[in-house]
Amino acid sequence: MIALRTAQEIETIRKAGAIVAATLDRLRNSIRSGITTEELDAIARKEILAMGGYPAFKGYKGYPANICVSPNEVVVHGIPSARRLKEGDIVSLDIGVRFRDYFADGAATFGVGNISELAARLIQVTRQALSIGISNAICGRSISDVSAAIQAHVESNGFSVVRAFVGHGIGAKIHEEPEIPNYRSSRLGPVLQPGMVLAIEPMVNAGTHEVEILEDGWTAVTKDRRLSAHFEHTIVVKEDGPEILTI
Ligand code: MF3
Ligand code: CO
Repeated sequence: MIALRTAQEIETIRKAGAIVAATLDRLRNSIRSGITTEELDAIARKEILAMGGYPAFKGYKGYPANICVSPNEVVVHGIPSARRLKEGDIVSLDIGVRFRDYFADGAATFGVGNISELAARLIQVTRQALSIGISNAICGRSISDVSAAIQAHVESNGFSVVRAFVGHGIGAKIHEEPEIPNYRSSRLGPVLQPGMVLAIEPMVNAGTHEVEILEDGWTAVTKDRRLSAHFEHTIVVKEDGPEILTI
């Protein structure tokens, strides 16, 4: 069963979403060459708590940090550490927030100082893929329309979509039904209805779509160690179209 949220529930998810967006903004302004990924984690925790939210990833299935910080070849679930960002890196930040009893989830990839043309294009295409996916989240269409639109945009630009991780429903838990793949599969998936709250999150690789999980059991890296980008918004499907809640 996919939950259809009431206006009041959506209001609370929107508040969680505003905390996600404000925290991403704060981190974007903190990114510079020399900062460690655990310093970004600490800034995020402080921001989230100051706004009355709670970092939802902390302790989720044993996840040890507040947010995910995934530089360069790290696709998702990078654990904040003493690793220092350096000029030319890209870094994906993924933030889940609980506010009261509801959740929102968002992510974005940023450059550190001057980045290569390839890195900039990877970021741009991934951001566009999210936006195109969201614009297909229309009542009466199915999840697979969202997936297909994302995949088509990414592949027509010469990049690949990660298969090992997918987007998801969200609301009373961080991960709910349905799954939202970023690639076409044989299944049409559920039909979108007003009140569905979805986290759409294309993960896009410069090379192969294949990933590997490192020894820590979390860090997902590209098999070829080439760059990966990730953008995510929590949205609500409404009669008159999708609305972004992580803004
Ligand atoms: N945004 C990630 C996702 O939807 C959440 C990571 S969960 C954690 O898959 F385990 F890293 F906390
Ligand atoms: Co997510």
